[in-house]
Amino acid sequence: MGSNGENVIPLLSPYTMGNFLLSHRVVLAPLTRQRSYGNVPQQHAVLYYSQRTTKGGLLIAEATGVSDTSQGYPDTPGIWTKEQVEAWKPIVDAVHAKGGIFFCQIWNVGRVSNYGFQPNGQAPISSTDKGLAPQVRVSGVPVADFSPPRRLKIEEIPHIVNDFRIAARNAIEAGNSLFPQCTYVQSLLITFSRAIISNKVNNESMNQAYLL
Ligand SMILES: Cc1cc2nc3c(=O)[nH]c(=O)nc-3n(C[C@H](O)[C@H](O)[C@H](O)COP(=O)(O)O)c2cc1C
Repeated sequence: MGSNGENVIPLLSPYTMGNFLLSHRVVLAPLTRQRSYGNVPQQHAVLYYSQRTTKGGLLIAEATGVSDTSQGYPDTPGIWTKEQVEAWKPIVDAVHAKGGIFFCQIWNVGRVSNYGFQPNGQAPISSTDKGLAPQVRVSGVPVADFSPPRRLKIEEIPHIVNDFRIAARNAIEAGNSLFPQCTYVQSLLITFSRAIISNKVNNESMNQAYLL
């Protein structure tokens, strides 16, 4: 019972979330670390994530790119190549070895990107052709500049959905659990296991997202 008489659930009590039985309610939030050089998770992430693991505790990995068009921050991990999948395996294994539950958060940053992150210097892809104003960021880049995005054609959307499908399968192959959750965040395309759908997205892409 709290001081105002309301019922209080202790933070360190178990919680059943779908098929997962969490031993407590303290979750590692997804935190972009920018230490995955060349978009490949590094050995030091084994220590980073295992240090934050408790038996029955949930960890959500830093946002992880689904394709070469999905990147917008330096040195963030991906999960679209074999090398990336193999690099994730010892990290996930280390979390499991301590009894933790690990989700991979997969994303495409959409227009939160610039030509420098895109294959062949192409325009970032988005649900809109409206660009973003420069942004002050907390680490690495003092001010991030964004290039004008290219609005995806309807017929291109299934390819993006397929990127997510493959990345989700790769995440499972690497040992992660997958637990889709939908949230709205402006500018990102779609993120699973927090599935983020841009608020500029059209109905067609929304429908496609649910086909995952
Ligand atoms: C350095 C930093 C990196 C972050 N990276 C991610 C990320 O990769 N994915 C995500 O969904 N949220 C990310 N976030 C948001 C955090 O998960 C969020 O701050 C945390 O859940 C706490 O929520 P609050 O800021 O609303 O209190 C990041 C936040 C910070 C400060």
